[in-house]
Amino acid sequence: MRGLDELDVKGRRVLVRADLNVPLDGETITDDGRIRASVPTIRNLTGRGAKVIVCAHLGRPKGSPNPKYSLAPVARRLSELLGEEVAFATDVIGESAQAAVSAVGDGQVALLENLRFEPGEESKDDAERALFAGKLAALADLYVGDGFGAVHRRHASVYDVPRLLPHAVGGLIAAEVEVLKKLTEDPARPYVVVLGGAKVSDKLGVIANLLTKVDRLLIGGGMAYTFLAAQGYEVGNSLLQEDQLDKVRGFLAEAGERGVDLVLPVDVLAATTFAPDADFEVVDATAIPADREGLDIGPRTRELFAAKLADAATVFWNGPMGVFEFDAFSGGTRAVAEALIASDAFTVVGGGDSAAAVRQLGLPEDGFSHISTGGGASLEYLEGKTLPGLAALEDEDGA
Ligand code: 3PG
Repeated sequence: MRGLDELDVKGRRVLVRADLNVPLDGETITDDGRIRASVPTIRNLTGRGAKVIVCAHLGRPKGSPNPKYSLAPVARRLSELLGEEVAFATDVIGESAQAAVSAVGDGQVALLENLRFEPGEESKDDAERALFAGKLAALADLYVGDGFGAVHRRHASVYDVPRLLPHAVGGLIAAEVEVLKKLTEDPARPYVVVLGGAKVSDKLGVIANLLTKVDRLLIGGGMAYTFLAAQGYEVGNSLLQEDQLDKVRGFLAEAGERGVDLVLPVDVLAATTFAPDADFEVVDATAIPADREGLDIGPRTRELFAAKLADAATVFWNGPMGVFEFDAFSGGTRAVAEALIASDAFTVVGGGDSAAAVRQLGLPEDGFSHISTGGGASLEYLEGKTLPGLAALEDEDGA
């Protein structure tokens, strides 16, 4: 991949595809991690006299404008972080975008409205995507891919535009890929992976691949209940994906054959209902009452997981251990995060909810070797898939 500094950007219009998909509460950004992570590449370009045009998506508005998903609050936050005005275009390729691009001076920044307001961005139809990509590319002279969280999407701004413009990889993607390479090519051992989150179906591919690579696999969060059910235990009203039971039984068997230590919760916080103030009790993971649901791993599991992490040399963690958004059920996620912070291992937090949890729980971000900005993207990388956005950047022949 061509590096950012190999592009001659002075006085040129540079389209930067960033991932600014941040959680919002109304117009309030509740976690600005992705915006902060985008700043160094933008600064690099403005510092070298580029006219920077940033494009990004927010949420899933499905191809038409929707004020709920406007990037306007992100433009304001980006201005604050950069310490300079970011011009905001109220459309993606329309009059407002054209005007913003014409007005942006050397060393200045404009942000286009949400790419996903345009149906061409996510279209499965190659021609429709190409048409939109052409219009987007026409706004700029050069392209920089830096939206790591979106590189697993075959979308116009990620996959098609770099084929139309001379391009380079931004600093954020370059850093993320370096870390992921370290995890996949000969990781220091013991290599321990902690997986959580609601659904095991989201993680099938990565589990299958990790079973061939890791020494230990710790499973918590909602997906753990499908593993417990696969072993024949009652899980009450806990999250359960019955259609995945066979698959999960296969994983349990394969872990045994390969000598991978697959560690499940031994106790859970079993609540009467899914609510922040729900009544709960600590029960054995093998004896969850039929009328209760597990909302977090229990204290013995926290200790067990910490012990399994203590001598690790490499750790990858993706997915919360419980419903960390509810204070009473955030202890398991906090315990895993603290075990990583205490560890001397190379520790990577794999984006999405786990990265948000680290910040929401007020834990020090510098306690980890790397906090990824991409949940789905890092999982797909670890799964061994070809990521469209990376493939496009690797192809240096593009225009
Ligand atoms: C993310 O939030 O993981 C990325 O921004 C990608 O968003 P998407 O899952 O809606 O494509």
